[in-house]
Amino acid sequence: MSSPPAPGTGSLLDFNSPLSAERAHRLVTQMAAREPVTVIDLGCGWGELLLRLLVALPGAKGVGIEQHAADVSRARANAEARGLEERVTFVEGSAREYAGGADLVLNIGAYQAYGTMVEALAALRELVNPGGRLLFAAEFWEERPSQERLAHMWPGMTVDDCVELPELVELTVAAGFRPLRIERATRGEWEEFESGIVAELEEWALAHPGTPEADELQAKSDELRSLWLRGHRDLMGFAYLTLGVPV
Ligand SMILES: C[S@@+](CC[C@H](N)C(=O)[O-])C[C@H]1O[C@@H](n2cnc3c(N)ncnc32)[C@H](O)[C@@H]1O
Repeated sequence: MSSPPAPGTGSLLDFNSPLSAERAHRLVTQMAAREPVTVIDLGCGWGELLLRLLVALPGAKGVGIEQHAADVSRARANAEARGLEERVTFVEGSAREYAGGADLVLNIGAYQAYGTMVEALAALRELVNPGGRLLFAAEFWEERPSQERLAHMWPGMTVDDCVELPELVELTVAAGFRPLRIERATRGEWEEFESGIVAELEEWALAHPGTPEADELQAKSDELRSLWLRGHRDLMGFAYLTLGVPV
């Protein structure tokens, strides 16, 4: 019997965020056009976007920081499989500890590494080299949730945990960035992402019926599906902001 998947391994996902292959390709092409030489990814997960960038940037070096050990192992294995191990370093640790700057900084779905969004944007501003770019991706309210919908989201979640898109963009300006591109994940990207998370658990449970592990995985899947369908579905957005700083 194969081991059950630990929730959060995302083995059916290419990215640990609602990001389609098409958007990833476009973002990589746009960011690579500026030929950044140094790229850092704070809270990189298994580093898929960083790896795709380095394939598009043969002269560049990258560093990914991630606190989840399983993701770091997957990132290193993928780097090796693509012959990128000489140009990328994946560090298991806290993004907060990283102090070096880069021409291109990625922070996708991981502002919480720095505390609040304001604290994250201030810290990230320090890391972007003059003339460089930040790709910042974060949650926002497409629509502010009712108390009933909030009660189905993550424990302790309040309406103040996100802002709406105009305010999110204004926060980036207040932190010293200029917005170059403002994009939102589509409903289809959310559906791919959320379905991929639970399908990993359901597939294993279906292949091992009647085992205690299958019962546990299905209970976890029920919880995650409810968080999405009864909680944040269509209320929470996810923005991809390409932000510039002066030379
Ligand atoms: C939603 S996932 C996004 C992962 C990746 N950026 C992607 O888009 O595929 C957020 C990641 O941030 C990581 N993270 C959160 N706080 C962190 C911290 N203080 N230091 C490093 N990584 C952190 C989590 O472990 C998780 O892998």
